[in-house]
Amino acid sequence: MANDGSRHAEAPLEPSGETVGVVFVGCGYAADFYGATMPNYQHVEVKGAFDVDEQRAATFVAEYGGRAFSDFDEVLGDPDVAIVVNLTPVSQHYTVSKAALLAGKHVYSEKPLASSLPEATELVELARERGLLLSSAPSTIFSQAAQTLLRAVGDGLIGKPLLAHASLDMGALAFMPYTEWRSRRGVPWPYLDEVANGCVMEHAGYQLSWLVAMFGPVVRMAAHTSLQLADKWPGKTELAPDISLGFLEFASGTVCRLSIGWVAPADLSLTVVGDQGVLTVSDVWQASAPVMLQRHARTSGKTNAYLQEAEQLPFVVPPAQHRYDDTHDLTVGAGVADMAAAALKGEQPFLSADFSLHVLDVSLRLSEGRGVMEDVALPACDDKKLTLTPAVPRTAAR
Ligand SMILES: NC(=O)c1ccc[n+]([C@@H]2O[C@H](COP(=O)([O-])OP(=O)(O)OC[C@H]3O[C@@H](n4cnc5c(N)ncnc54)[C@H](O)[C@@H]3O)[C@@H](O)[C@H]2O)c1
Repeated sequence: MANDGSRHAEAPLEPSGETVGVVFVGCGYAADFYGATMPNYQHVEVKGAFDVDEQRAATFVAEYGGRAFSDFDEVLGDPDVAIVVNLTPVSQHYTVSKAALLAGKHVYSEKPLASSLPEATELVELARERGLLLSSAPSTIFSQAAQTLLRAVGDGLIGKPLLAHASLDMGALAFMPYTEWRSRRGVPWPYLDEVANGCVMEHAGYQLSWLVAMFGPVVRMAAHTSLQLADKWPGKTELAPDISLGFLEFASGTVCRLSIGWVAPADLSLTVVGDQGVLTVSDVWQASAPVMLQRHARTSGKTNAYLQEAEQLPFVVPPAQHRYDDTHDLTVGAGVADMAAAALKGEQPFLSADFSLHVLDVSLRLSEGRGVMEDVALPACDDKKLTLTPAVPRTAAR
């Protein structure tokens, strides 16, 4: 599927001068990723922040601009605020997003969209009824690596995509010094929340968003999970699985073996195998990870070789100027910027409500080890509700 890019999410929009007011609700660890990267997007105006912990909102606005709102109602009542960016803990996502939608605000939520499918579906329907935009992170789909991979697949560089091997194994979290991790403002990494949510609900979207963008919605899947390191979290009674394996079939016919976990050594790669070659990104958490292409080679004689040397594809979009100085480069602000651009143009963001709902649905199935073996569309992706096609994001369209 050809796509040839004149606009992308990592650069400012055409200088129309119009801006969209944004407020961050929740100023914890992840908020620094946003604050540091929003200056990439001149059409986004940071109006400020709110946190139930006043000190956190104060340090956020001191570092990244805008004003500290004294309560949530003040955010909701401010006519200059068009988008609420929900960076609260997962348990608060539904309540905060619902209140913002009811107040007439577009909502960009950190992942997952909500803790359950019924809650997320209610948010999606509320947004639709009120003509508001709703999106969920992750937004790594706008990275140089993702845009280049999607373009290469769309342009047919590997022929027909048959199979993907996708991993989001972050390494064995329990053996890392996670209690010492701090954000730029010194906010500790909330490991108790992360472990309770589990590796799948925290991380599946990083691979699923790329896969669904390339191959369309999941139409059939199997999943299995395990909890291997429960004894490393003493005192925690509710723990989610730390290993998940999924086998997914997409609307395009492409299938995927997906591994997510925090037990095995780190592997954050994505490989797409076509009938004419192979594309690989070594690390989907690095915005500028190289995209490598191996074309089929003509060979003869007694050999099992069939692939040429890997060549690095030129990136199809430039790097973001402002990056968050962390071990990962997650392009977080790009999703908010795409929503702001969509609001200005009266369009849907690439990470639409239906897209986000589908990613959540598949994530929940993976997290619960709940596969669907019948050859039927999943509930969140019937033809009327889901408009996904195996296509590249419009942000890469020329
Ligand atoms: N920690 C990470 O590395 C990371 C990375 C990417 C995305 N995320 C996602 O970002 C979101 C937030 O995670 P975090 O790590 O920043 O958590 P955190 O606990 O560090 O921060 C959450 C903040 O929200 C505030 N808060 C809680 N309830 C609130 C409410 N009702 N209204 C306003 N503020 C409220 C808390 O006081 C806290 O400061 C989660 O969805 C998480 O999955 C986290």
